[in-house]
Amino acid sequence: MFAAVRAAHHRGMTDLRTNYLGLSLRSPIVASAGPHTGDLDLLLELERAGAAAIVLPSLFEEQVEGDVAAVDRALDEQLATGNGGAAGVPLVDEYNAGADDYLALVEAAKASVDIPVIASLNGTNIGYWLRYARLLESAGADAVELNLYSVAADPIVSSVTLESEHTGLVAVLTDDISIPVAVKISPFYSSIASFVVALQAAGAAGVVMFNRFYMPDFDLDTRAVVPRISLSTPEDLRLPLRWIAIMREHLAMSIGASSGVHSGFDVAKAVLAGADVAMATSALLRNGVGHVATMEEQLRDWMKEQQITSVDEMRGTMRRPVAADPAAFERANYIGNLAAYSLRTS
Ligand SMILES: Cc1cc2nc3c(=O)[nH]c(=O)nc-3n(C[C@H](O)[C@H](O)[C@H](O)COP(=O)(O)O)c2cc1C
Repeated sequence: MFAAVRAAHHRGMTDLRTNYLGLSLRSPIVASAGPHTGDLDLLLELERAGAAAIVLPSLFEEQVEGDVAAVDRALDEQLATGNGGAAGVPLVDEYNAGADDYLALVEAAKASVDIPVIASLNGTNIGYWLRYARLLESAGADAVELNLYSVAADPIVSSVTLESEHTGLVAVLTDDISIPVAVKISPFYSSIASFVVALQAAGAAGVVMFNRFYMPDFDLDTRAVVPRISLSTPEDLRLPLRWIAIMREHLAMSIGASSGVHSGFDVAKAVLAGADVAMATSALLRNGVGHVATMEEQLRDWMKEQQITSVDEMRGTMRRPVAADPAAFERANYIGNLAAYSLRTS
């Protein structure tokens, strides 16, 4: 009984609330896209464990393109067999399952959980974005996350062209829908700082740094190219940590940290750098979705130990050493670390 009262008191003392994309969240711990967020039972478990919001897995442009091709085939078939009219309609519906299933998932997720549901689109075609973002909005999504997952592999497309294409797409889309749009980027833009500022100018309500690319590997025995989906480790947090610290003071929009968030201590680091939320996928795939509760406990314990009473109070407080002169910070630390490393190993 006393323990329960103490725990409640403890909870009362620590204010984890944060704002992301204009949404009020109970804590900065968000479940990022992955197979676990596409399952209604797991969404309920995530909410019970304390996840402040969930990002659904992406609807991929290729899935939808597949749908469109399938619908065309179905229509051809109907025409060829003369089976048009009312009798032909279910055939088309059946073939069009990808996008329909996704919209049904958004609706079901909204009906099942009270926490915000962020839908996700992965593609770079504006027609696709406009059409599906509107549908996601009418299905009840609280926000849309655009996953700009593309490999800049065309030698004649410069970084300037590619980045302005991407920001142009974001501008058209944010004009068109009224729910907030977050853009999830890879760390492979040649000038992350200018690109992220341009995303904000284009109307994005937030940026998620960073997505992970799944690099293919070679199997030397079979000489096949094997796709390897490897989960992250806490080491991977260093990249978003650095860029969030650099970008915080340049941005009024929200920042989500993604890649390498495995514990409540990692959440604390992300917030100290300036993130509004810290997102986890690998940690939840590895430990189960109930791990969100452990992460929250770790965050609370650390804040209490540090006598920090709110997430608002700690956000961005460690960005300065990294952001003041990032280039000099980077070089000084690099040189210092190299020296320390050779001493340790000699
Ligand atoms: C199995 C798997 C599936 C994923 N699916 C998606 C997806 O559909 N859309 C998306 O934007 N990110 C997807 N991601 C990326 C994660 O949302 C996240 O950005 C990335 O894994 C880095 O975070 P982490 O270190 O917490 O895993 C996926 C990641 C994994 C491991």
